[in-house]
Amino acid sequence: MASPIIAPFPATRLRRLRRTPNIRAMVAETNLTPANLIWPIFVTEVAGAEGEIASMPGVERLTLDGARRAAERAARLNIPAICIFPHSDQALKTEGCERAWDPDNIGNLAIRAVKEVAPDLVVMTDIALDPYNANGHDGLVVDGEILNDETVEALVRMALVQAECGADVLGPSDMMDGRIGALRRALEEAGHKHVSILSYAAKFASAFYGPFRDAVGASGRLVGDKKTYQINPANRGEAIRCVARDLAEGADMVMVKPGMPYLDICRAVKDEFGAPTFAYQVSGEYAMLEQAIRNGWLSREAMLESLLGFRRAGCDGVLSYFAPTVAEMLA
Ligand code: PBG
Repeated sequence: MASPIIAPFPATRLRRLRRTPNIRAMVAETNLTPANLIWPIFVTEVAGAEGEIASMPGVERLTLDGARRAAERAARLNIPAICIFPHSDQALKTEGCERAWDPDNIGNLAIRAVKEVAPDLVVMTDIALDPYNANGHDGLVVDGEILNDETVEALVRMALVQAECGADVLGPSDMMDGRIGALRRALEEAGHKHVSILSYAAKFASAFYGPFRDAVGASGRLVGDKKTYQINPANRGEAIRCVARDLAEGADMVMVKPGMPYLDICRAVKDEFGAPTFAYQVSGEYAMLEQAIRNGWLSREAMLESLLGFRRAGCDGVLSYFAPTVAEMLA
């Protein structure tokens, strides 16, 4: 950045350009529009599990019909993309995670349902084994170890079925090594040349995922933690290397996750690579803000400000549970 030339006071009065709404609008450096939003939704196959998630007030698990309505709502609000997270039957979770590549699992049914009603809406998926894993981990677990290469093979099977069902953007959130290259090769070979990959490239082992694990029914399941595959929150250099590696393996877009405590990583990734860069404002971030707003401790402006912060940090877009509310506020 060029070093700013600032004449001494009173020649420079920075308040001149803050005087009226229109003057402020003229010199706004970043903006927030619905085009910057990706809306994550939870879809359940479990009768009775639909409805509000206690640790994510205002967010519901949806039925397939609910997912259709959400897709129509997203399209109406000019939100370009929706991201589907499955809440699956606990009794059907296995150590082999076979349901992850069942074309009729709840995630895949939701892809097709959304595409039926909103064919132009971009459908993003999550690639990781946790929704179908008896151990709650993103990878296959054998004798307490999360296996890398065997997991990558399983993820490839999962991805090909999602692509077959009509997914536009695949979101590998598993943090195994080598998965982006394996996914890209398999997609090319299977003729899914135009299916893109938004890699959860810099995904940290975070305490802010707690409410999400409640939402997808993984909380009671998880044996141990995810620290052998997700990045240590202390590490910035490692996050940059993860992004470099995923781009080199064929990721079309990259993500930093969580968001607000990691805005330095967002800025570094955008500056370093210039690739389409997204952040995930995760469930814990949502819960903190939403509950404070509900308590009257923060105004609704805090939602917009939190999302604008991602834009200022260099993000092209944000996955946010606030997406529909914010799109309505911006309309
Ligand atoms: C799991 C996955 C997680 C999230 C998205 N995909 C949780 C985890 O890694 O344990 C978190 C999203 C959120 O907290 O909103 N593959």
